[in-house]
Amino acid sequence: MKKKIKAILDCDPGHDDALAILVASASSRLNLAGITVVAGNQTLDNTVNNTLKIVELAEIDTAVYAGYGKPLIRELTTAPEVHGESGLDGPILPDPGTAAADRHAVRFIIDTVRQSEQKITLIPTGPLTNIAAALLGAPDIHDKIEQICFMGGAARGGNWSPAAEFNILVDPEAAAFVMQTDIPKTMIGLDVTRKALLYPEDIEKIKNLGNPVARVAGELLEYYLQYHLEKKKMPGCPLHDPLAVAAVLEPDIISSRPYAVKVETAGRHTTGSTVVDFDGDRFGRPNVNVALEVDRERFVELVLESLHSYKS
Ligand code: RIB
Ligand code: CA
Repeated sequence: MKKKIKAILDCDPGHDDALAILVASASSRLNLAGITVVAGNQTLDNTVNNTLKIVELAEIDTAVYAGYGKPLIRELTTAPEVHGESGLDGPILPDPGTAAADRHAVRFIIDTVRQSEQKITLIPTGPLTNIAAALLGAPDIHDKIEQICFMGGAARGGNWSPAAEFNILVDPEAAAFVMQTDIPKTMIGLDVTRKALLYPEDIEKIKNLGNPVARVAGELLEYYLQYHLEKKKMPGCPLHDPLAVAAVLEPDIISSRPYAVKVETAGRHTTGSTVVDFDGDRFGRPNVNVALEVDRERFVELVLESLHSYKS
């Protein structure tokens, strides 16, 4: 029996973050030590509230820790046009009856990595503020991290500006710091998440899986799909965050190559872009495995299997 992967999911729910929580929590291969929350898609109050709603809906036995409510330096940018004013618009979920743990997310990340016998895998699916703060505050934990498999960036293009992906653009300084560490990193960027689309027929399948968690997940995805159909003229919705989880659970779901990547923090039109040195002769040693291809069918199958595993 392979040893479970011990991980921390750092998220900003957000519809796709909610699916990432459900996929991670359903896996028997993952020991989810905690869920830490950051501001991004919405304010921290909303992203914490949304995390608690999903954890309670799916009866997930994992503590939730609130982190930073704004980027390291900049003001917060949110994405109500994608996720709504609550950050999880669509189906009405009951207000959470529980609260986030007292410990700050960054304290939890540092303590957990320090005290763990096993190296910890970090799976950030929002801006990298909490992750950067933990790594800045505790240099001793860097070599106790198995990898940082993050949803963010793009070797080409962007979705929040023509040059930048949202998670990196919200806190480019945090991303720049994380990127320059020697910690093993996998970048699950738009290059693969935009190929990992969920089509309307996939969402119908999810809604008909026959348990309340899958039904709500389907309703959340129906809301999330509308923005991508109507505003982005895409044929489906990109499951950005669950792909970062899937890449930890089944690394062969993506194919990646090591490149040196730097984050732009001062460009008038390019701030937040993840600049990939494909020629390998400008930015020095490779510091990130950049995902460029994805097995979409296997990925969708994994999402369906995960949601099907919740009890009826
Ligand atoms: O650009 C997509 C990313 O930004 C996803 O993680 C989404 O949830 C938002 O956080
Ligand atoms: Ca997210």
